[in-house]
Amino acid sequence: MRLLLFHHIVLSGYIFSEATKKFPDNFKFGVATSSYQIEGAWDKDGKSPSIWDHLTHTRPWHIEDGRNGDIACDSYYKYKEDVRMLKELGVDFYRFSIAWTRILPSGFINTINWDGVKYYNNLIDELLKNNIEPMVTLYHWDLPQTLQELGGWTNPIMEEYFAEYARLCFKLFGDKVKLWTTINEPRLVCLMGYGINVMAPAYNNTGIGDYLCGHTLLKAHARAYHIYDDEFRKDQKGKIFIVLEFQWLIPKTNSTADINVTETARHFMFGWFANPIYLGNYPKVMIDLVAERSAKQGFPKSRLPKFTEKEIDYIKGTTDFLGLNTYTSFLTNSEEFYDYKMVGFENDIGFQISHDPAWEATAQPQFKIVPWGTRQMLKWIKETYDSPEIFFTENGMADNGTSLDDQLRIKFYREQLKAVLDSMHKDDVKVSGYTAWSLMDNFEWVSGYNLKFGLYHVDFTSPNRTRTPKSSVAYMRKLFKTHCPIEECE
Ligand code: NOJ
Repeated sequence: MRLLLFHHIVLSGYIFSEATKKFPDNFKFGVATSSYQIEGAWDKDGKSPSIWDHLTHTRPWHIEDGRNGDIACDSYYKYKEDVRMLKELGVDFYRFSIAWTRILPSGFINTINWDGVKYYNNLIDELLKNNIEPMVTLYHWDLPQTLQELGGWTNPIMEEYFAEYARLCFKLFGDKVKLWTTINEPRLVCLMGYGINVMAPAYNNTGIGDYLCGHTLLKAHARAYHIYDDEFRKDQKGKIFIVLEFQWLIPKTNSTADINVTETARHFMFGWFANPIYLGNYPKVMIDLVAERSAKQGFPKSRLPKFTEKEIDYIKGTTDFLGLNTYTSFLTNSEEFYDYKMVGFENDIGFQISHDPAWEATAQPQFKIVPWGTRQMLKWIKETYDSPEIFFTENGMADNGTSLDDQLRIKFYREQLKAVLDSMHKDDVKVSGYTAWSLMDNFEWVSGYNLKFGLYHVDFTSPNRTRTPKSSVAYMRKLFKTHCPIEECE
């Protein structure tokens, strides 16, 4: 009962105001994809295997439908069709990623694969020809397998290799690309890849591997930022930023324990990466808790690596915007029966997450539609990080693709965008752009092709990978043109 009341209060505070229903003229709209999820051509023209090629080929049972990104949307060959769709949508920009293994097949800077470079040049040129700004992600999860064999992101040397790869990309494409993002969702990379055996490289090393990975990723990100800043920004005049993911956390009850653990969890889930970049160093609560648990577990020092003062300074301030990916909200409660002997990221927090069955469902059972959660989250980010400029780099909803008339997706976008507008106008949150995930249905990692996030349907049974607009295309086209998420603004 108390739970219901709590949500009712939050919901009743959320009234969309007529006066503020349009996004500003200079607000940017776009859509996103990533290399492994769409390109296919996994071994063509000199490309080498990434950790996702390796995982899907060696352990196909790891993927829900046993499939892989060998062909995916075939965008390596069909990029012109993709650009036609982007044109039809009327986007300002297109967020896509570069496959490291297409440019540097050995993973190292010693051999450049010019066919791979040509592919991205062609795509970028095609975008520019159509007045679409490229927003390029350097790392969207497809690490060269050669580098994984050296320990991947748990090996600090990766900072060097990433820096060299990033510098090369700025050199090769920076005359045409003015929006760069470094690492996509580092928390997911580390927790799901090195902590729990979900995403590639699928290691089980929770409470240790994930923290090592995060430490390297933060340094690698900062390195790429400084390289851009010191060597390229003056001439190329672009922006560079990190993409962090946050699913908002809401206390499950009004108990002090739940309220406190929720705040702690926000710092572990988001502050882990946001604090070093915006405030300097890991969140204090994270440093203290991991140190305390580690000591109890018999470790000679904290499992969370320590930054030197020099590193803290070097990482602080290394993002031009906060790239933000968000999909849903969760309820958080403190876990009383937590076993302090067990080493693990979740145990370090001592929490559990769930969702409210009353929230509207999507095809992903855990991913409910919670627009008012997005608004609360934006306010929290504003207050915690001194009003950063936020650029939504992903937001979207999955269905199972049974109908091209995707009304729930339209509703999802409409409600999310209304919440973003309210945040901007009523809570004074600075938001300058919004990216829908995704341009088209694609390979959704461990869910394979079961979950569909696309505005365009892709027929994965046809060799042509035929693309067909869903109803959401018309909604988005109108939104991108009018900047108005509701029926009418005037
Ligand atoms: C975040 C990731 O960046 C993207 O690759 C993924 O497909 C979407 N979320 C949807 O899960």
